[in-house]
Amino acid sequence: MALVTMDRLMDRAGQKNGAVGAFNVGNMEMVMGVVQAAQELGEPVILQIAQKRLGHSPLSLIGPMMVAAAENATVDIAVNLDHGLTLECIRQALELGFSSVMLDASSLPFEENIEASRRVKELASSYGAVVEAELGVVGGNEGGGEKQIRCTEPESAGEFCVRTGVDALAVAIGNAHGVYAALPELRFDILDQIRERTRVPLVLHGGTGMTPEMFRRAINGGIRKINIATSGLQSMADYARDYCAGVTKADYFKLSEAMVEGVYKNTAAHIRLFAGQLRNF
Ligand code: 13P
Repeated sequence: MALVTMDRLMDRAGQKNGAVGAFNVGNMEMVMGVVQAAQELGEPVILQIAQKRLGHSPLSLIGPMMVAAAENATVDIAVNLDHGLTLECIRQALELGFSSVMLDASSLPFEENIEASRRVKELASSYGAVVEAELGVVGGNEGGGEKQIRCTEPESAGEFCVRTGVDALAVAIGNAHGVYAALPELRFDILDQIRERTRVPLVLHGGTGMTPEMFRRAINGGIRKINIATSGLQSMADYARDYCAGVTKADYFKLSEAMVEGVYKNTAAHIRLFAGQLRNF
């Protein structure tokens, strides 16, 4: 049984001055590719899926698979609902055995975000699960519609964490979901100020397209969980395309293996970076 809560993984990563990778999945091949990379490298990971993606991957189907993958893995794995938008979906994930949930109430006014996050914390605690919340607005389109970046106000971050009791805080420091048109200018000065005012582990969304140097600076600035979604999906699609392009008649089983391989490669590269194994890049 290797299903754990992600606060433990973030704490452990912090002791090694690293971060735990949180990889978004959408099908069985993705789950298998992430777990294979984690097991081979002997590092814990977080498996997650955003509520917005459940139209393609219904929670009642993919949720039990994610939980089973964690329970049967040889490394510790947390299972997280990413960007939970409704209490109903959050409750469903908790019922399925997810060990953490993220509430994305970032577009609500401060007091309403506090109230909603506090309620989710209460609910998750009754299941023995932990909670990630977001303050400020991460750009892109993962929770709800396309969003403009609004950096987290460091002055509010401390109060937010104390009043909600959340276990992790997703920060907005110039990061965005999806493909960056140009390299993002991450506000490490803001990250430093948030870290000075908070005691919970900090989470970086929008990991796709960031450079190893950005990850290194983010981890040094207190980031303990880094989310990777787009590059995993893209790597899987690229490997599938390359396999199909090389044959006249596609074989489903080989296609499935190519998809797992694409996710495995992308996940392993990120785990190495986050675990500090490539610290001298
Ligand atoms: P990317 O799609 O940019 O990797 O972002 C992932 C993420 O933050 C999921 O919440």
